[in-house]
Parts: sequence; C-alpha cells; structure tokens
Amino acid sequence: MAVTPSIHGMWSTRLAFILAATGSAVGLGNVWKFPYITGENGGGAFVLIYLLCVLFIGIPIMMAEILIGRRGRQSPINTMRTLAQAENRHGFWQLVGWGGMIAGFLIISYYSVIAGWALAYVFRAADGHFTALTGPEAEALFGDLVGDPERLLAWHTIFMVMTAIVVSRGVRSGLEQAVRFLMPALFLLLLALVGYALNTGQFMQGLEFLFVPHFEKLTAGAVITAMGHAFFTLSLGMGAIMMYGSYLDRHTSITRSAVLIALLDTLVALLAGMAIFPIVFANGLEPGAGPGLVFLTLPIAFGNMAGGLFFGTLFFILLVFAAWTSAISLIEPAVAWLVENQGMQRVRATVIVAILAWFLGILTILSFNQWAFSFPFAGEVKSNGIFDLIDILTANFMLPLGGLAMAVFAGWMMARRSTLEELQLPDGWIYRSWRFAVRYISPLGVLLVFLHGMGVL
Ligand code: PFF
Repeated sequence: MAVTPSIHGMWSTRLAFILAATGSAVGLGNVWKFPYITGENGGGAFVLIYLLCVLFIGIPIMMAEILIGRRGRQSPINTMRTLAQAENRHGFWQLVGWGGMIAGFLIISYYSVIAGWALAYVFRAADGHFTALTGPEAEALFGDLVGDPERLLAWHTIFMVMTAIVVSRGVRSGLEQAVRFLMPALFLLLLALVGYALNTGQFMQGLEFLFVPHFEKLTAGAVITAMGHAFFTLSLGMGAIMMYGSYLDRHTSITRSAVLIALLDTLVALLAGMAIFPIVFANGLEPGAGPGLVFLTLPIAFGNMAGGLFFGTLFFILLVFAAWTSAISLIEPAVAWLVENQGMQRVRATVIVAILAWFLGILTILSFNQWAFSFPFAGEVKSNGIFDLIDILTANFMLPLGGLAMAVFAGWMMARRSTLEELQLPDGWIYRSWRFAVRYISPLGVLLVFLHGMGVL
C-alpha cells in the first residue's frame, strides 16, 4: 500500500506513539473503574478473568487495531472502507468504524462527568477537606458532590472544554509532553499510596481480595464485565488505538508497542487496586460501594498521611491529566471523520462533537441524583440509571464486538501477506501465534463470554 502520511499529521518520534497510546489506555479505567468493578464483582476471580482477557484477547487485538490503522492512515470509518476495498471485501466492514465512533461518543459523555469529579477533588484536597477524614466523613463529602447536579455540570463543562481545546489543536501538540511526565509521576504516587496501604494493617486482606479467586462469587455479568473492562482499559474496539496507529511511522514495532502498552496499563490498575482495597477494609467501607469507591478511599489515605495535602492534591491533578489524555482519544475518531468526509475545519468539528457529548453527559449527571434508577444486569443490580446503561452498552458490548470484528478482519479478511508486511515480523512463531490468536482465540474468547453471559454456557 502507499506509504503516504496521515493528513492529520504524524507522531514526531517513535516514543511518541507509545506515550500517546499509553496515555489513551491509562485513565479513569485504571484508577476509578477497575477498583470499583472489582469490588462489585467479588475480587480475585474477576481480576483473573480480566487479566486472561488482556493477555489472550486484548494484546492480539491491539496489534490488529494498530496495524489496520497504520495501513489505512485515516479515521477508522475510512480506514476500514479503504482496507476492505484493497482486500476485495464488502463495504460493510466500515460499520466497524461507525460503531466505534458512536461508542467513543457515548463513552466520552460520561467519562467527562467522572473526570469532573476528579477535578472537584483537586480543590477538595487542596483546601484541606481530607484532613483526618474518617469513613463516614468521606461518604458525606462524596455524597455532597454527586448530589449536586449543578456543581457536577460545572465540572463536566470544564473538563469537556479542556478536552476540546487539545483535540482542536491536533493530537500531537502537548500530548507527548504531558504523557512523558504524567505517567512516571502517577506511577510514583500510586507506589506511595501502596506504601500507605501497607501500614493500614489490612494489606494482606486487600491482596487476598484482589488475587485469591473465589469462583463461586462469579456471576455471568461479572465475566462479561471483566472482558468488557479489558477492552475499555486498553482503549480497544472503538478505533482510538486505530486512529493513533494511523499516525505511526513504518519502522516502529507494533508487537513490542502493544505488549508494552498493555503491561503499563495493567500495572497501573493493579497498583491502584493494591492501594485501595486495604484502605477499604481498614476503614469499614464496602468493596462494592460502586462508582464512588476511589473517591471514598483515597481521601482517607491522604487525610491521614504525612504531606497528605500536597500528595492528595497532586494525585487528583494527575488523575485529571490521565483522564484528559484518554478523553482526547475518545473523540479523535469522530473529529477526524468530520474533517475527512465533511471537509470541516478541525476546530469546528471538535466543537460540534464536544457540544453533543456535553449534552448527553447531562443524563449521566442526573443518574447520580434526580434520575437515579435501578435495573438488573445478568445477576447484578445496577443503581445508577442511564450512566450504568451507557457503560454496560459500550464497555460490555460495543467494544468487545468492535474488537471481535477487527480481529476477524485482520485474521480472516486481510491477506496473510498484508498483515505480515504491516507487522514487519519474520514469518516465525511470533507472527504465527498472533495470527492464530486473532483468527481463533480472540474471536472465540469473546463469543464464549457472551454465550456464558446469556446463560447458554
Ligand atoms: N482506556 C481509557 C481508560 O482506561 O480510562 C478509556 C478509553 C479511552 C476507552 C479510549 C476507550 C477508548 F477508545
């Protein structure tokens, strides 16, 4: 295929792609979502399934997604259409791009609201609200915030504007630098929190909860949620990584990049879990407390450690940055498509996407107060209305289905020669294992989990 660069620009260095993709992967999913869904789904067995999904489904699909993106060099919709054409396949493959764009749009609508919580907590931390905080006080502090739709709306608005500003300038400027400093800093602070957790007296109980599997606790919904989270946390199945792959030069190793990104992402999530669960048990909190879990536990840690005012503020700033670098990648596919197909200016395209997503975000805001309702999902009760619905629809269904389609496309629709050429691997065991994974393991894995969720298995 032609070696033309993307019209949206290219990464300036090889490291830039790794940084940006890691920035996309590491976000609220690791620090906020992973601990709370692990708590809701009983711990160890859920974590084990998630890790298996990352390894056997996530990494091969990430390689597929990057290679498709690099070969197509456009927004996911146009990339899929171009590649389907080049491989003599039906045009309906571009539906993968459409589904992804819609999933990204749905996710950013609530992602921005939750990132708004983190923004609010930067100021809560800085003005000393965490000092000597107890469990019930932490609950009251969090309840105050999510019970106040106007305040949530204000923070949601600020975060959406922040995201739009970066996207409208093109993803390259700023992003690379931000991630370069952010990741190590976030990592160090998480290590410090694990250090604090070591002294809570409940560290072992926390570890046991995270790592000792009790399969009897595993509901059908938990298995789907674990797989869905593997996609969500790695930013897979919706074209975000495909988009970033489209800015990648031809010399960077896709295999090494995918393994490294998945490794870093998983490490951050596990560290967050190791910090949070000991605090949960030491303070009589509920592991299944739901989406507020991080906002209940970490303030207690910061409020009771030396230098907590500084570290607490810094931590929530870093969390906002981590969310920011992920949010950017959520709307990039839609913006790139508007630029390519509607001939729109980048700024205008960004403003339109951001405003629509902002409106949709209002439904998430109301899910935590005025319009909170409960519904059952595969053996669990969900109590945050539309927010839960959007989250389940996207993470548990749209992303895995998108990923499945990408695996099938790379494994069955693209010529062996094309993928071999694009991955730039020798025709040895690494390439063959990858091809076997995207042809059989990843698709069957996704299907098995779905069948299990529907009660068929
Ligand atoms: N991976 C991000 C996180 O863990 O917070 C969320 C995300 C970003 C999901 C981009 C999907 C995506 F395409």
